[in-house]
Amino acid sequence: MGIVLIWCLAVILIRWITSKRRGAISYDSSDQTALYIRMLGDVRVRSRAGFETERRGSHPYIDFRIFHSNSEIEVSVSARNVRRLLSFQRYLRSSRFFRGITAPNSSNILDDDYNGQAKCMLEKVGNWNFDIFLFDRLTNGNSLVSLTFHLFNLHGLIEHFQLDTMKLRRFLVMVQEDYHSQNPYHNAVHAADVTQAMHCYLKEPKLSKSLTPWDVLLSLIAAATHDLDHPGVNQPFLIKTNHYLATLYKNTSVLENHHWRSAVGLLRESGLFAHMSLENRQLMESQIGDLILATDISQQNEYLSMFRSHLDRGDLCLENANHRHFILQMALKCADICNPCRTWELSKQWSEKVTEEFFHQGDIEKKYHLGVSPLCDRQTETIANIQIGFMTYLVEPLFGEWARFSNTRLSQTMLGHLGLNKASWKGVQREQCGSGDDADPAFEEMDSDILPQEPRLS
Ligand SMILES: *[C@@H]1O[C@H](CO)[C@@H](O)[C@H](O)[C@H]1NC(C)=O
Ligand SMILES: *[C@@H]1O[C@H](CO)[C@@H](O)[C@H](O)[C@H]1NC(C)=O
Ligand SMILES: [Zn+2]
Repeated sequence: MGIVLIWCLAVILIRWITSKRRGAISYDSSDQTALYIRMLGDVRVRSRAGFETERRGSHPYIDFRIFHSNSEIEVSVSARNVRRLLSFQRYLRSSRFFRGITAPNSSNILDDDYNGQAKCMLEKVGNWNFDIFLFDRLTNGNSLVSLTFHLFNLHGLIEHFQLDTMKLRRFLVMVQEDYHSQNPYHNAVHAADVTQAMHCYLKEPKLSKSLTPWDVLLSLIAAATHDLDHPGVNQPFLIKTNHYLATLYKNTSVLENHHWRSAVGLLRESGLFAHMSLENRQLMESQIGDLILATDISQQNEYLSMFRSHLDRGDLCLENANHRHFILQMALKCADICNPCRTWELSKQWSEKVTEEFFHQGDIEKKYHLGVSPLCDRQTETIANIQIGFMTYLVEPLFGEWARFSNTRLSQTMLGHLGLNKASWKGVQREQCGSGDDADPAFEEMDSDILPQEPRLS
């Protein structure tokens, strides 16, 4: 009975949603091969507060299966909305314990047990060893919603900003659902992991004593949304396939701009901050943008040299809001690429996932003769090579500076794991190919669209 009702509602909802859509648009690649990239949905124009946001669910899918029949696209849109609806139901069910409403006759005793364990894990949400993969399983795939909601509560944001908890939950479910679960790496679990890392950094003494609730609020929202609607391919891929996002953002921080605008779209749609003044909402949107845009890895050199000169001069003053926000940008950058600073067990899993995503892009590039991007060729690359290059040219320089800024036990722990993990990958590398212990040369050859030209650590 309940299920039938949900299905009826779902069907009505989907009819309504699909009837509002403009439908699919197809884009030809400049490449002569039969490469078609279809995007579903459109970009909703909302000029109310200054700029247009990306439409929720515009999800720049690069789906090569669906370019023949229109009916399949309808199916795909419907499936997505059903998934969203069911996911919300699933979330509500699994979150009884978080809401403190226990249903004694719950149909599934195991659910309750998992909830109990997840709740237990949240007591240690500030531990650097927090196992987000386990937490995701225990929450039935709702790690991002559960973790972020918990952190909002823990930091007193719900009370301080008078947030409607139902709206907050809906907002977080929408965020979680707009990540692509089929991406091996850039999915909601990565977002949850980054949010957890951000929480660890916010607790560091230097930050915690100067941050305002507003800073914490923006940091958590930016962390949770920083890769929203990520298509699972990188910017050079979007540029060379003439993806509409590359055009829209003029080949510059294409993905990060999309993540930001998508986040703003969800913020407005959820009405979570509708009770705040327009000025505050606009300020929030632009500051979240500054944080998300800082995660563009091709801009790392600029951020890093600014950070370095502040540290050299010793002139960072965290009573100054601009300085605080700069530090939060650096913190989010660290959170985003902290995988190699986790324990080997966690770090190794992330390495496998990100490589799988790279190689998947490489497979598509090969198939359509687009030229295989650096690090994406499964014939010539290995996880170990990629990781060693990533650590050497990006992670070590960033975390080295971070430890200068915040020389704490956490920073030492992170650098410790980083060293051990790099040694482990070097061991793997030696086993695989005898002698080589150099970092992947691809990191050095890359053009600035993909990675910064790091100063060579020779
Ligand atoms: C649970 O089920 C038991 C047995 O069916 C029943 O006695 C009890 O009233 C139910 N309680 C709830 C909360 O449904
Ligand atoms: C983006 O890059 C493509 C490919 O290099 C180029 O054709 C296009 O003109 C660029 N667009 C802008 C706005 O720079
Ligand atoms: Zn990320």
